[in-house]
Amino acid sequence: MKRELVLVIDFGGQYNQLVARRVRECQVYCEIYSYKVALEKIKELQPKGIILTGGPNSCYEEGAPTCSRELFEQGIPVLGLCYGAQLMQHVLGGKVERADVREYGKSHLTVDQSSVLFSNVEKESTCWMSHFDYISQVAPGFRVTATTDDCPTAACEKVDQNLYAIQFHPEVLHTQEGRKMLSNFVLNVCGCKGDWKMDSFVEESIKEIRAKVGKGKVLCALSGGVDSSVAAVLLSKAIGNQLTCVFVDHGLMRKNEGDEVEAVFGPEGPYELNFIRINAAQRYYDKLKGVTEPEQKRKIIGEEFIRIFEEEAKKIGKVEFLVQGTIYPDVVESGLGGESAVIKSHHNVGGLPDHVDFEEIIEPLRDLFKDEVRKVGLELGIPDYLVYRQPFPGPGLGIRIIGEVTAEKVRIVQDADAIYREEIANAGLDRSIGQYFAALTNMRSVGVMGDERTYDYAIALRAVNTIDFMTAEAAEIPYEVLNKVMSRIINEVRGVNRVMYDITSKPPGTIEFE
Ligand code: XMP
Repeated sequence: MKRELVLVIDFGGQYNQLVARRVRECQVYCEIYSYKVALEKIKELQPKGIILTGGPNSCYEEGAPTCSRELFEQGIPVLGLCYGAQLMQHVLGGKVERADVREYGKSHLTVDQSSVLFSNVEKESTCWMSHFDYISQVAPGFRVTATTDDCPTAACEKVDQNLYAIQFHPEVLHTQEGRKMLSNFVLNVCGCKGDWKMDSFVEESIKEIRAKVGKGKVLCALSGGVDSSVAAVLLSKAIGNQLTCVFVDHGLMRKNEGDEVEAVFGPEGPYELNFIRINAAQRYYDKLKGVTEPEQKRKIIGEEFIRIFEEEAKKIGKVEFLVQGTIYPDVVESGLGGESAVIKSHHNVGGLPDHVDFEEIIEPLRDLFKDEVRKVGLELGIPDYLVYRQPFPGPGLGIRIIGEVTAEKVRIVQDADAIYREEIANAGLDRSIGQYFAALTNMRSVGVMGDERTYDYAIALRAVNTIDFMTAEAAEIPYEVLNKVMSRIINEVRGVNRVMYDITSKPPGTIEFE
């Protein structure tokens, strides 16, 4: 597929995926590469533009991440952000020095509106700064196009070579006019048309999959989550019942979720594919008996999934392809794309099976961000409730039940969670809260119901707002809603006599309880 490409070259800054997402929002395809990428490779990719990201280093220090002077001499427009801006100046003969005061947070920005980068941008606005070095002298041929109170060069440019540098972070929301600036670069400086759309993605992917798979057989581990569901439907549209989806119901899903997945993907559903559901709840509860340590629970759940999947695959026999719902942040986070450190290791259930006989992996969503996967899902006609499903951890309720997992505890947490979700939806909050769920604490306490003394479990309600799931704030749910949820849970769920709301942010807490 020949498409317009903008390269984001990663110098290790924390907002780099955000830069890529902003470019995608201009409907231009973009990829993140480490700063170590060879110039030859860049030329081969023929990008319409290059963005150099921020990073934690000082560009004048020995061993600091760098780039060659030739990068700026290819006739490809380059925009440097923060560290990238300083590096551009440093490499091209400007001067970067340590500032007396570190500029961090919101700053008052004044721009020169005659710059293409700032066309249609307010002259005065707020930008987000985070730097201890500053550009004390621009490189030959550059002119300063923006300033803040503490920063004499908040932006500069050399128009005849299409080189632009911005000291602040246009990609974060705190920079009021940031999106316009990035879109000015992508559309007006690089001249991109912005024709990367999800309907063309679907069409092209279906063609590619058909060409690749031919008459071969394809196996998919379907979890019912957004990514694997979208991948499965895409494959089904492309190759119909050459696809077999194996859905392992580990008994740790939310209430009725197994049946919901079956209703969509099973024989009664609208898609042409072979669907195999394995009801493995008891097998999991047996394995988890007596286990209380969170990481050990995760490991057991992940491994059991692989074993069951392998057993099923063996029955099917040889397949040519295995489908995975990998998405772009997974690719970047696993260290294959950019420069950022590998942060999470626990986010995939168990990895790949060793004993499944297949030749190649297909990852049709590998290039997409989550919001794009959702658009593809809608484009494919997948029901809204599946497309907008909130993230659900691979180990499921196994890590929302503190301590030992039993069938009885699963029932309690499922029922409480279903009530909580229903009331959040009734209050119209279901699309605005990032993630919310009920968890079962391991605490039992004394209560009184009717005239009887009770000694039952406490349910903890969690709801967080987050952009990246790396940091999160507890959501401020109206008290009436919480109160209603509490009273319904106590009345309707046997075994619970106390309900608490968790107000901890992340950090120091995590989103899940284990
Ligand atoms: P934490 O609890 O680390 O969660 O703040 C951050 C996000 O990751 C999800 N999560 C997991 N997802 N396997 C997964 O597939 C896991 O073991 C796991 N643990 C946490 C969590 O739901 C949240 O969205």
